[in-house]
Amino acid sequence: MTTMRHRSAFVREMGLGPVWKLREQAEEEVISTERHEPVQDDTQMRHDFAEVPSMAETFSADAPPAFFDEIPWDEGVVAEEQPTTVHNVANMEWDELEQVMLQCTACGLCEKRTQVVPGAGGRKASWLFIGEGPGFYEDQQGKPFVGASGKLLDNMFRAMQLKRGDDVFITNIVKCRPTDEKGKDRPPSLDEAKACRPFLDRQITLIQPEVIVALGRTAATMLLNTEAQASLASLRGKVHAYRTLEGLDVPLIATYHPAYLLRQPVEKRKVWVDLCLAMQEKALRA
Ligand code: URA
Repeated sequence: MTTMRHRSAFVREMGLGPVWKLREQAEEEVISTERHEPVQDDTQMRHDFAEVPSMAETFSADAPPAFFDEIPWDEGVVAEEQPTTVHNVANMEWDELEQVMLQCTACGLCEKRTQVVPGAGGRKASWLFIGEGPGFYEDQQGKPFVGASGKLLDNMFRAMQLKRGDDVFITNIVKCRPTDEKGKDRPPSLDEAKACRPFLDRQITLIQPEVIVALGRTAATMLLNTEAQASLASLRGKVHAYRTLEGLDVPLIATYHPAYLLRQPVEKRKVWVDLCLAMQEKALRA
């Protein structure tokens, strides 16, 4: 069960609350922020709050937020056809698996990457957070979620009394940065996701997480094999099952991507509800 202390911490770290003044000032700046542009000052994400919003208040069947749902699956970019090498990683242990990832040329993303971003965290973590793909900073550093959205993700972890490392593993649907023809970040195409999937599947088998949190629509729809156009609003608020290659069902909670929250901070309230649901699910398994 989620305690009041957890909730308060979460609200504090997430900058939730009825007062949104600071955000209004910062909004224009933030809305123009691309997925992985320079880190916002951490204090921008925090607000004072008087009261924790109740579940009933925050968890409504709102229509999908237009800004989010209008983002097309591929942002209009069609990945070039590439012969796909399907890696046979099914029996690999961590070190070998990572070596293969680092040398992977299974899709066109390898041509423009600076570094592969396999993921980071505890190799036996209970929590697995999955984003869509590395952005500019991740590509530079070889680590997941190190840009602005990573800062917010860290705040989410702190609120859940988690931190990167031991009990959390963070990775992405694809391990190399997808870019459009202008060199900007874009979501991965289905083909790119398919080429990378054996890596993710093997990571999940090795980690054996208790709960998976899918960050954003791309990750959620790809992991759940639902229609690409399914809105995140229709996927969140329930416990899905991710079926591992071994046929085990791992509870999966879908929530908004932190980059989306940087543009639409008011949606943090819903993410709080989703993370509470994930914490409850985890507690049920303890
Ligand atoms: N967004 C993602 O989906 N993944 C990252 O690693 C960074 C930003």
